[in-house]
Amino acid sequence: MTADQSTLNHTARILTEVSPQMPADAALRRYFVQHAYLGPRERRAISRSVFIYFRWWRWLDAKASLQRQAEQAIGLDDRFQNHPASVKPEALAARAVPAWVQDEMELTPAWLQQLQREPALWLRARPGQAGQLAAGLGHCAPTPHAADALHYTGTQDLFRTAQFHHGDFEIQDLASQLVGLAAAPAAGQTWWDACAGEGGKTLHLADQMRNKGLIWATDRSARRLQTLKRRASRAKIFNFRSTLWDGTDRLPTKTKFDGILVDAPCSGVGTWQRNPHARWTTSRDDVRELAATQLALLNRVAGSLKPGGRLVYAVCTLTRSETTGVADAFSAAHPELASEPVSGPAESGFLWPQTLNANGMFIAVWRRSA
Ligand SMILES: C[S@@+](CC[C@H](N)C(=O)[O-])C[C@H]1O[C@@H](n2cnc3c(N)ncnc32)[C@H](O)[C@@H]1O
Repeated sequence: MTADQSTLNHTARILTEVSPQMPADAALRRYFVQHAYLGPRERRAISRSVFIYFRWWRWLDAKASLQRQAEQAIGLDDRFQNHPASVKPEALAARAVPAWVQDEMELTPAWLQQLQREPALWLRARPGQAGQLAAGLGHCAPTPHAADALHYTGTQDLFRTAQFHHGDFEIQDLASQLVGLAAAPAAGQTWWDACAGEGGKTLHLADQMRNKGLIWATDRSARRLQTLKRRASRAKIFNFRSTLWDGTDRLPTKTKFDGILVDAPCSGVGTWQRNPHARWTTSRDDVRELAATQLALLNRVAGSLKPGGRLVYAVCTLTRSETTGVADAFSAAHPELASEPVSGPAESGFLWPQTLNANGMFIAVWRRSA
């Protein structure tokens, strides 16, 4: 891709707004609200060039103007996409990610190369409707990993489609869909989605439950739960109750659950392909603090499982301190819970971006003895 001068100018203006407090995606959203005249094609080109800048940031000449740096980044990206071998794995390990990451995970060439590619856009069709949705939208490819998942390669604004307004699909990454499938709730059960956020996984659990039974959807953020309610109403999902819970000992209910999902706050290393700015704002301290939060959340909810109930821990990160570090510490502290294998393509709990063309994710599952 070559960028025209106007794209480079917009990119440079947005880059001046980006900071640790103003992530690139938020800066883009705000800029597009302020520049409503920009059409979908221009928006796509500008977003792409902002993200390419952060993917190749450590290769750029910091003394050059931001326009020039954005142009350099696009040149590097073109070369890499056409000849991935033109950038050596050692160079990727040194420059595509911050140095602290190598203490937390193995930096394989396959993962590093995947980080420098455009991320895929995944849809989740309503149960059994993927074929019909693909025919209606076009540019959709199925995957053997999830029957309702579609890889969308078209360019239309999906939020403006009739299918979206009708609740026929959600935009949800394949790795997130695999978390819902690993939870595998049954119709009529009672589940707790303890970090429900905007409800991506709540809606998937509800679909698997055929809208029957009950999901307690809790989060510390009222704003996110509001979005969850809007999404649920569009999807005509009614078998949930949402309420605030910030992870403290004051549990939201005395209910005992068939299943609990803790889709915990995490460092997000698994999303660094989609969200490259976060590579440069996430620190080792974040990893340490978030691992402690994840373990605390698991410890707090564990007593709310029914005998035979299942606990699912998921994080969209790949660091050892979170993932296996948390899962091992939790297992050691809870002999009443037995670890269970994770269904689907997870390798020892890990979903790898380079294998799935999706976010990286870690899943662990336990069952309370009956
Ligand atoms: C990974 S996101 C959840 C995404 C959501 N499950 C989905 O699929 O759309 C993690 C969520 O945990 C929430 N959170 C962070 N700290 C928390 C805490 N201490 N207690 C409860 N929720 C917390 C955040 O507000 C955020 O919505």
